[in-house]
Amino acid sequence: MRIDVLTIFPAMVDRFASESLLGRARRAGLLDLRVHDLRDVTTDVHRTVDDTPSGAAPGWCSSPSRSSPPSRRCSPSTAAPARSRGRRFDQALARELAGSDGFSLLCGRYEGVDERVRRHLCDGEVSIGDVVLAGGEVAAMVVLEAVGRLVPGVMGNAASGEDESFSDGLLEYPQYTKPADFRGFTVPEVLRSGDHARIARWRQAQSLRRTLAERPDLVEARGGLTAGEQALLDEVPPDP
Ligand code: ADE
Repeated sequence: MRIDVLTIFPAMVDRFASESLLGRARRAGLLDLRVHDLRDVTTDVHRTVDDTPSGAAPGWCSSPSRSSPPSRRCSPSTAAPARSRGRRFDQALARELAGSDGFSLLCGRYEGVDERVRRHLCDGEVSIGDVVLAGGEVAAMVVLEAVGRLVPGVMGNAASGEDESFSDGLLEYPQYTKPADFRGFTVPEVLRSGDHARIARWRQAQSLRRTLAERPDLVEARGGLTAGEQALLDEVPPDP
């Protein structure tokens, strides 16, 4: 998969995507991630990428002509991380992008990107949530990591990328590791029982319970609890 990121802070994105999972995926050739400096294609000596907004408005806006946006040349499709508009980034969109053969992300800065770039050179806008960041770079990194881990081979085995929160519409069950006793706080007995069927039921019950408590909207979106799920909750006690 090829992903292009267009930004005025290429080092920020490139460094992030050189570590850990994404870094390994890039080195293994699973992910062809190219980070472009918008200032490399500017036309003036100051490498200016922005200008004042047309019409009285504060701040600066990324200009379409000061740097000839390379988006047409390098993108099968382009999405601009957007301020408070654009499609909300979620696991479904991550899955969609992971199923494509590539896409580009144009990171906005200042007051945003000139409307003509948004309208004519981008396929869409993506927002990582109702929060205003100083620029699209962090949002692009969120997209890169969420999509990258779903690319076949990146997680080591195809199943693991989806065996987590949101993939079945529920939050993840509680995780424990060793030691069995940490300052008097113990790992639930069931997880030490070796009884895999019992463990699976316990996890499913805790997943449901946690989602009901923290994200009831997700349970609602699945159509509420089934009779089987309700029975499971009645049978398995909460994780204390
Ligand atoms: N740029 C600024 N804020 C953003 C957000 N919430 N999502 C995507 N890009 C952004």
